[in-house]
Amino acid sequence: MGDLNTCRICGAPTECVLDLGKTPPANSLKKRRDEPEAAFPLVLHRCDTCGNLQLRDCLIADDLYRNYLYVTPSSPMLSRHYRVLIDYLSSHGHVNAGSRVLEIGSNAGLFLEAIAPDVSAVVGVDPATAIAAQANAAGIPTVCDFFNADSAARIAGEYWRPDLIVARHCFAHNCSPHEMLGGVTKILADDGLFVIENAYALNTVEQTEFDQIYHEHMFYYSVRSMRHLLQMHGMTLVDVMTASIHGGSIVFVAARATAGREPLPTVERALERETAPLSREGLGAFAQRTREAGAKLRRLVSELRAEGRTINTYGATAKGNTLLNYSGLTASDIPFCADSTEIKQGRYLPQSNILVISEEQAFADPPDYFLLTAWNYQEEIVAKVRARGNIRSKFIVPIPEPHII
Ligand code: TMP
Repeated sequence: MGDLNTCRICGAPTECVLDLGKTPPANSLKKRRDEPEAAFPLVLHRCDTCGNLQLRDCLIADDLYRNYLYVTPSSPMLSRHYRVLIDYLSSHGHVNAGSRVLEIGSNAGLFLEAIAPDVSAVVGVDPATAIAAQANAAGIPTVCDFFNADSAARIAGEYWRPDLIVARHCFAHNCSPHEMLGGVTKILADDGLFVIENAYALNTVEQTEFDQIYHEHMFYYSVRSMRHLLQMHGMTLVDVMTASIHGGSIVFVAARATAGREPLPTVERALERETAPLSREGLGAFAQRTREAGAKLRRLVSELRAEGRTINTYGATAKGNTLLNYSGLTASDIPFCADSTEIKQGRYLPQSNILVISEEQAFADPPDYFLLTAWNYQEEIVAKVRARGNIRSKFIVPIPEPHII
């Protein structure tokens, strides 16, 4: 995929912002502790020309996603977020009762299930075999494939040309955004909209969420880089909306330039707001804060262990693996990770070798501290633990810098 130091959006040279070392792919949980694992560099680069932030090294999508273990957790916070997003789309006239909606990376179909009553038809497309089958079994029509111009044409032939295409937290998960956009521009209705929801680079940087950096996240989009990318495909960024979900997300709304929609003032305002934090200097400061946060977490865990405290992590998240591996934490300090996802339980986190157990097991033998590797669900996880009568365990929240609550 071209030179390692080349922007995969605009082709200009890139420069290194932050090197997090080598790690295995974040969702490659192991069945056996001693299973061999390969580690790949995790290096963030920036393009001065279009503002793009990307991983220097891209892994092959097929290796990452065909046997994917990430199933969207059932979470009241996520359900609330779906509602906010759907209300936003409806109140802005972006969807109505006649809309036909295609979701890319639809996983188990939870978002489509939420939007289905408000629109006329839905279909999902997702490359993970087992998860697409699960969505179909639950009644959400789902095509099992990667989304690109070829699969898009097939989907449009079998179903319809969508009025709305949604890509939530998957648009940055591919080496070439041009491939996905090629599919979108091939089938989107002439006056249709393409909605991309993604972790927002501004939040990642301002809140020192260095753990958002892992191999699946190949791009860290800003308004500047997204607008540039869309323009390359004859599309206009017409609106942006921010949301607190997943540590700070942004919803980009794009239309075909030929549809003649003017960008709303939200776009220009967001551009102004993000310019300094995402500049070369702003990112240099982010890299420095990251190094300090990693060292601080390592120190905190060592101190607690020296006092004889027990620690588990909570959430076998992708970002948790960056956090643990960059901070040098392993099963010798943190033996267990609680997670509600059945297929993750009984497996070992890559590199750190921490064993994933069920929440029930973690509640039965609670540690002194839970390191919240799923800090994006802090409120509901803390409430869940307390509701089980556990008022003893404290929580280490790693972001924006490690602190105890
Ligand atoms: P995510 O941040 O990528 O959505 O991953 C969240 C992980 O945390 C997922 O593996 C499920 C787990 N989780 C729990 O174990 N309990 C919970 O209450 C929630 C909300 C998530």
